[in-house]
Amino acid sequence: MNKVSFMVGSLYTGGIQLDTKVYYLNEENIDKIIIDKAASIIRTGGTVVFPTETVYGLGANALSSEAVSRIFTAKGRPSDNPLIVHVSSLDMLIYLIGEELSKTAQSLIDKFWPGPLTLIFKKSSRVPIEVTAGLETVAVRMPDNEAALRLIEASGLPIAAPSANLSGKPSPTMSEHVIADMSGRVDAILCGNQSRVGVESTVLDLSGDTPTILRPGGITYEDLTQIIGKVNIDPGLIDSDAVPKAPGMKYTHYAPKADMVIIKGEIEAVKNKIQQMVDINAQNNLLTGVLASEETKNSYKNCRVISLGRRSNTEEIASRIFAALREFDKTDVDIILAEAIEEKYIGMAVMNRMKKAAGFNIIEV
Ligand code: TXA
Ligand code: MG
Repeated sequence: MNKVSFMVGSLYTGGIQLDTKVYYLNEENIDKIIIDKAASIIRTGGTVVFPTETVYGLGANALSSEAVSRIFTAKGRPSDNPLIVHVSSLDMLIYLIGEELSKTAQSLIDKFWPGPLTLIFKKSSRVPIEVTAGLETVAVRMPDNEAALRLIEASGLPIAAPSANLSGKPSPTMSEHVIADMSGRVDAILCGNQSRVGVESTVLDLSGDTPTILRPGGITYEDLTQIIGKVNIDPGLIDSDAVPKAPGMKYTHYAPKADMVIIKGEIEAVKNKIQQMVDINAQNNLLTGVLASEETKNSYKNCRVISLGRRSNTEEIASRIFAALREFDKTDVDIILAEAIEEKYIGMAVMNRMKKAAGFNIIEV
């Protein structure tokens, strides 16, 4: 399905109404004509949704305040929440930060770029304050996705891009998600494959003394400590009273329409507790959705079950979590009960997203 395009601009989208061009990319054989069209939109100050390995991004020229302001409008994003700038070369990174890389940055980049690791540096004056929401630092990453890299390269510009969901909704990992959220709100959408990683990049702050994780993501705490030794975790991620250092982490996020509760503990106890709650909900005429796993999916009755994958394979679970939350939105479930997973490796990122989706509503059994 190369080179198919159509207009979906007739949708009314709450104030914004653009003629959104939708292009279907074959990610195995990327059409240069599509990339060139999208790049020319970026160069002229427009907005383009594109696939990355983590989630879809909503991009615009990171060096233009005006272009960047269109991202905030399209998403309905608060302007105090800074954006990640996507680059396709180290030269672009050095242009943004205006100085050579530290040893720590260099070794992380050698190991993990292109990939799901965002690094925070002190910024140069070349980066508009709209991108960093007034902060003196800038977040940069090189995505591990051919279409994304070719778009940045063909534009010849660094591209600022948040996740391409409407603010507050689960991040988009499939082209149908971005079409649903962004039709009529952006100039073009590049539809590609389902995102491989499925949760966003890890945000690592390198602007202080000790590298600090501000958002857990695709590159794990364990991966990072292996390369650079000591890594802190922002207390705002653990203690719900502390203010997170990444402005975006303070917002309600990823919220499905139904209320969500996480059930945590030994798996047999979790299963029993969930079934008990499903039954009580049913007595009250409430339909329950259960976020389960391959191992447990057949043990629940009188509810709608979505399996995220095998409990032993947290990467599989990560790649499905956002799509599952959106799937429940299409059903009539009143309450979602989710089995907790182990907060190890990429499980730390999955649990972080689940806790935010559940508004930190957790029952320990
Ligand atoms: O995987 C990803 O990172 C995706 C894809 C599209 O690359 N992008 C993404 O962007 O998740 P966004 O805007 O949804 O999340 C960016 C996060 C927010 O929590 C924001 O507050 C934080 O990074 N951030 C950005 N710049 C920052 C800075 N200078 N200091 C602290 N936090 C920053
Ligand atoms: Mg986001």
